[in-house]
Amino acid sequence: MKRNGQVLLTVEHITKQFGGVVAVNDVSFDVNKGEILAVIGPNGAGKTTLFNIVTGILAPSSGTVRFNGTDITGKKPYQIAQLGMTRTFQNLEVFTNMSVIENVMTGAHRNMKTSFLQAGLRVPSVKKEEKAVEEKAMRCLEKVGIAHLAYERAETLPYGNQRLLEIARAIAAEPALILLDEPMAGLNDEESRWLVEVILQLRKEGLTFVFVEHDMETVMAISDHIVVLDNGVKIGEGTPEEIYRNKAVVAAYLGEEETVC
Ligand SMILES: Nc1ncnc2c1ncn2[C@@H]1O[C@H](COP(=O)(O)OP(=O)(O)OP(=O)(O)O)[C@@H](O)[C@H]1O
Ligand SMILES: [Mg+2]
Repeated sequence: MKRNGQVLLTVEHITKQFGGVVAVNDVSFDVNKGEILAVIGPNGAGKTTLFNIVTGILAPSSGTVRFNGTDITGKKPYQIAQLGMTRTFQNLEVFTNMSVIENVMTGAHRNMKTSFLQAGLRVPSVKKEEKAVEEKAMRCLEKVGIAHLAYERAETLPYGNQRLLEIARAIAAEPALILLDEPMAGLNDEESRWLVEVILQLRKEGLTFVFVEHDMETVMAISDHIVVLDNGVKIGEGTPEEIYRNKAVVAAYLGEEETVC
């Protein structure tokens, strides 16, 4: 079914081979502005590989990625970030030896004139800008609900809060699109509910999300559109309702749960 809206990201016939393994096989889909799109599929389906291609960590074997009207295929991750796309990782990537707010400031510096290193030298002319970056970082921490932990060392935070920290760092760059790789993994029910609220609030503020997730309750509850991968191949896409009724999807993925007695 054709959905309305302005396309922000286009994945076009993306294939990625690792030696003999075709991790992503001719996958195409669009992400609309303001949408929450989930990419689901069994372990090894190619979800993280797809994220790595979209964010420039890996070059595809073939195919094109377009973001906001620009062909970003083969661009470097920092170039893609500058165009307004940030991400979080399946395995947390927090700078453990920095404070929480310094972690977020590394994200905020994308839009500043001075680099994080220059700011670190504390030249008077950059102090004012550094202050602005710190204030912005603090606002991002407030949005994810961990502003009270701003001056703690990042490594002392429990897992759930480190995940929120990663999201604060991602939004500090003022992206148009954020990719989250299994954001709910390792969170308890209360933490998951809070993260859902954070994502929905950020979407209200205009952000677009693509997320990989195994937690089907969350996927079905917050996604506008779902893309299903199996063994590198897109086997279905649609609204949560459509996916729920898609026999191929149920057989390949959702069915796994239903067969457990
Ligand atoms: N750097 C690599 N070199 C070789 N093979 C790889 C590499 N990265 C991924 N693969 C293979 O590509 C396939 C897809 O892996 P990928 O990590 O993208 O799956 P996934 O859907 O993210 O799985 P999971 O749900 O377990 O995170 C797997 O067969 C994996 O072993
Ligand atoms: Mg993965």
